[in-house]
Amino acid sequence: MATGYIPREFIDDLLVRADVVEVINARVPLKKKGREYTACCPFHNEKTPSFTVSPNKQFYHCFGCGVHGSALDFLMQYEHLDFVEAVESLADSLGMAVPREHSGRGPDKKQIQRTKNLFSLLQEANQYYQQQLKNTQKALDYLNRRDLSDEIIQRFKLGYAPAGWDNALKLFSKSYSDQQLADSGLIVYREEEHKKYDRYRDRIMFPIRNRKGQVIGFGGRVLGDDKPKYINSPETPVFHKGSELYGFYEARLNTQKLERIIVVEGYMDVIALAQFGVSYAVATLGTATTPDHIKQLFRAVPEIIFCFDGDRAGREAAWRALENAMPMIQDGKEIRFLFLPEGEDPDTQIRKIGKEKFEASFEEAVSLTSYFVEKLKERFNIASDEGRARFLTEASKNLKTMPDTLIKDQLLKRLAKLTNVDISTLNRRHIINAPEKTEPAADFTRLSKHEVSKTPVRYAISLLLFKPSLVNYIENFEHIALSELPGSDLLTTLIETIQESPQINAAALLERWRNTEFEAPLTHLMKWQAETDDEEVLRCELQDCLRQIRKRANEKKIETLLHRSSTVGLNKQETEELAFLLRNR
Ligand code: UTP
Ligand code: MN
Repeated sequence: MATGYIPREFIDDLLVRADVVEVINARVPLKKKGREYTACCPFHNEKTPSFTVSPNKQFYHCFGCGVHGSALDFLMQYEHLDFVEAVESLADSLGMAVPREHSGRGPDKKQIQRTKNLFSLLQEANQYYQQQLKNTQKALDYLNRRDLSDEIIQRFKLGYAPAGWDNALKLFSKSYSDQQLADSGLIVYREEEHKKYDRYRDRIMFPIRNRKGQVIGFGGRVLGDDKPKYINSPETPVFHKGSELYGFYEARLNTQKLERIIVVEGYMDVIALAQFGVSYAVATLGTATTPDHIKQLFRAVPEIIFCFDGDRAGREAAWRALENAMPMIQDGKEIRFLFLPEGEDPDTQIRKIGKEKFEASFEEAVSLTSYFVEKLKERFNIASDEGRARFLTEASKNLKTMPDTLIKDQLLKRLAKLTNVDISTLNRRHIINAPEKTEPAADFTRLSKHEVSKTPVRYAISLLLFKPSLVNYIENFEHIALSELPGSDLLTTLIETIQESPQINAAALLERWRNTEFEAPLTHLMKWQAETDDEEVLRCELQDCLRQIRKRANEKKIETLLHRSSTVGLNKQETEELAFLLRNR
């Protein structure tokens, strides 16, 4: 296989020449609907098409399951290719040869470097915490009291963050910028008060690793009973709670053949299970299990067992997991629920009964559908007509989210029998599926309630994605950065990039920021649909956004100047500028 970096210019060019509609249509027949193309989504089960392809942006998106991307992403997802394979396959289909660059890293260097530094910072921090653990008797004693073996402490790379407000701060300020320290989540910045300090102090540190084994964040536990018991990393450019699972990397590494995964609630549960030989447990990070978690787990194993404490909180967590899991069910995959005796968590339970009995208890885990029916039966009195109607109305909410599968068929049979209502009636009453939409399913405005609000910065970004050539109407844009509005750095970078490569399209733009902090917001904004193709209208909208941003930048400037005039005083030029700004306010 060829080695070396594929130059970015080549990927731009490839994505400009390729047609996402052709690439997809060759594999999944598309139908034209207005300016878009649609089909039933190839990545989840559905009857009405919510998979949409935009020839303009060269981007596809499914409103049902959320998959999205460029022609390259489609090849990666549909044909299970990695990135380089997808580039090769697409280039091949267009008769293009993939060039390789051997010296240097191409112009994306700065971006890559940025996330790379974050990874190296987190890695160094973890080494530091591990070192501190070795030197701190009370932390070692704590882990000892919790019966963790040296081997398991090493396997999970546990550490200790010493007491004090600036240990990590002092150490890492030597080689990392404030921005990086803040982005890593290791240091807390309180800008109003000009304060910065270590987030983790006097805590046992649990590094959270991604699928490649890179440290992306931490959980930190107090040694005693102080509150909060655990502090987790905030969301950072490399750490997203909703898509990370603690212990997943370690589970892959230490299990010969992964056949099932146990989902538990805590760090200590994952570790204790591993110490006792149940090396295939993972934990969510202080959040409910998300559909994304389930998607990832199903890629690795056909069976997921959720293990909850037997108390009320455990049962509530189970219902939340059920609701998030329902849209993700697939025939051939299994989700079950295991409840521990009241007062136990997996950590205490496995120490009490050992590996064999613990694994044997999986036999008693109930399937997702059985748990669903059981819970509903507890809530409603199905001895009466009214009770059965309420039962079905409540069930309907979740049934509608469930893909059309054999599992669903069987569940419906069970519900029909239980309530003595036949399936055709359930269907007619729209208990099973939402009523057919007369509107086309691919309606971009439908997303609006989950979307972020439409600020001038975001709207400007989405306009440029829709029609990059609008950049020609932007004369100067220094004020965008001055406005300090959220997203202003992305908008500035986007304008610069389009000015450098005027032929570029949205898919190629998105490609430039793959795996960086800009990927998520860009993808988000890619889904926004302009109401018209009319260039004149779009130009006015864009200019209106820029005017609003400029207004905000001017306010900022006024604030700064006023502040300075009351502290150090203004020079002549600044005084004039302030007067000018105030006049034109
Ligand atoms: P638990 O309170 O059940 O803790 O929280 P645990 O895992 O049994 O911990 P030990 O055994 O007392 O050490 C379960 C999970 O919920 C999250 C953590 O991810 C924890 O592992 N949690 C809990 C927090 O994020 N913050 C908290 O303050 C408490
Ligand atoms: Mn516990």
